[in-house]
Amino acid sequence: MTGSGWHRPRAAETWRNPLRDPRDKRLPHIAGPCGVTIFGVTGDLSRKKLMPAIYDLANRGLLPPGFAVTGFARRDWSDQDFAEVVLQSVRDYARTPFRQDVWDRLAEGVRFVSGSFDDDAAFDRLTDTIAALDRMHGTSGNHAFYLAIPPEAFPVVCKQLARTGLAEHGDAHWRRVVIEKPFGHDLHSARELNEVVNEVFPEDSVFRIDHYLGKETVQNILALRFANQLFDPIWNSHYVDHVQITMAEDIGLGGRAGYYEGIGAVRDVIQNHLLQLLALTGMEEPVSFSPDALRGEKVKVLSATKLVGPLDETTARGQYSAGWQGSQQVAGLHQEQGFDPESRTETFAAITLQVDTRRWGGVPFFLRTGKRLGRRVTEIAVVFKRAPHLPFDDTMTEELGENALVIRVQPDEGVTMRFGSKVPGTAMEVRDVTMDFSYGTSFTETSPDAYERLLLDVLLGEPSLFPVNEEVELSWQILDPVLEHWAATGTPEPYPAGTWGPPAADAMIGRTGRSWRRP
Ligand code: BG6
Repeated sequence: MTGSGWHRPRAAETWRNPLRDPRDKRLPHIAGPCGVTIFGVTGDLSRKKLMPAIYDLANRGLLPPGFAVTGFARRDWSDQDFAEVVLQSVRDYARTPFRQDVWDRLAEGVRFVSGSFDDDAAFDRLTDTIAALDRMHGTSGNHAFYLAIPPEAFPVVCKQLARTGLAEHGDAHWRRVVIEKPFGHDLHSARELNEVVNEVFPEDSVFRIDHYLGKETVQNILALRFANQLFDPIWNSHYVDHVQITMAEDIGLGGRAGYYEGIGAVRDVIQNHLLQLLALTGMEEPVSFSPDALRGEKVKVLSATKLVGPLDETTARGQYSAGWQGSQQVAGLHQEQGFDPESRTETFAAITLQVDTRRWGGVPFFLRTGKRLGRRVTEIAVVFKRAPHLPFDDTMTEELGENALVIRVQPDEGVTMRFGSKVPGTAMEVRDVTMDFSYGTSFTETSPDAYERLLLDVLLGEPSLFPVNEEVELSWQILDPVLEHWAATGTPEPYPAGTWGPPAADAMIGRTGRSWRRP
């Protein structure tokens, strides 16, 4: 290459402004003109997550000028009243600082339609509102309908969206539906629900939210596994002894009886969040990160995943009783308002799974989750086998545990590697040490909230982080036997709030000669 070659100005036609190059995947993509209609707009999800996420996206410059948000609920609110509600939730829960100019611009596109789901006239008004937004506010016919409502209400809302033509795609505009879990309460009801939704919206217009997939640390599982050479050679049954996936919460269920009673920990979080974590940990490398390739690999690993039996020994369930959360005395589930004192709903669940593939044959996956546990932590621990031979006296390795790689999903996001190291001194003594990667110290960038990421992806039509129908159905297929077994026998075992679950959970893993990590 001659020196002059370096300095020759690039021809105009080959020069691309990197800020405008849609092929540059590092740049944040900005949603095109569109609107979001939220059903269930008076609920907690909307107030604490969706509205703040919309504002944060606007604040980061990721929403277009032609953007609108319409609330639909029974309240007798005007657009102005609804805007006040949105403003309050932004002030209470947004993650980015409040900027009056951003809010003023957003507020111009805020609308409210009052009515119930079976009220044809209300849906006709919604149709007129959306048409007016397209004409006057530049939303260009592109609309997402967010069903932040119980699944029993999906059929009637979907029918209304079909009747009014609001669900109809056009050549020049899109319509999408966003649905929140629970996607049914077993395989049969999930299939029915999917049929109802798919009758109105084609599968590629359906976005099922599993907010764990919107978390940075969860997406990082893919980077950790597939961007590095270090881990893949040992990511299999030759080296891995078992995998523990823990999602522990310190909060109780006060105020959530309406949703949680009769649902329980398996349906609430194992069916979705924890099985998605298992799928990302256990899947093979996708040929690309295209939505089909990524989701196809998750489907494969889920279809190879099965409960290990006998279920009395390989599963455990519990229900929190009164206890101490730090220095605070807290009530048990039976004293929480809205829960039946006879309630059999489990607030803790642990199960044992196997993944019948060449990579994972013989490696148990232990999943556990619970409310009112010792502390809030979600992690995936890949625990390795002992070295086949230790050239040390037993006394030298008394404090050596198993090597482990722990993906810390939250809080304190990062990755820990645990291995043995020589204790300084004249004797050879080996003790476990950890090596840490922590988001807080390695990056200056902050992570967006999961809902921010997922909402933006809905508006961009980017479906990779949304489970497909098949994943949902496979997850129920895996779990239905344990739900049936528990419904037919026994009751959850009590555990005092602030502890790590019922003794049955320790016994469950103990039978295999292993023990739970104390995160
Ligand atoms: C939700 C469950 O999906 O996830 C809740 O319904 C749970 O019961 C919540 O508390 C936990 O989410 P996060 O992001 O705080 O781990």
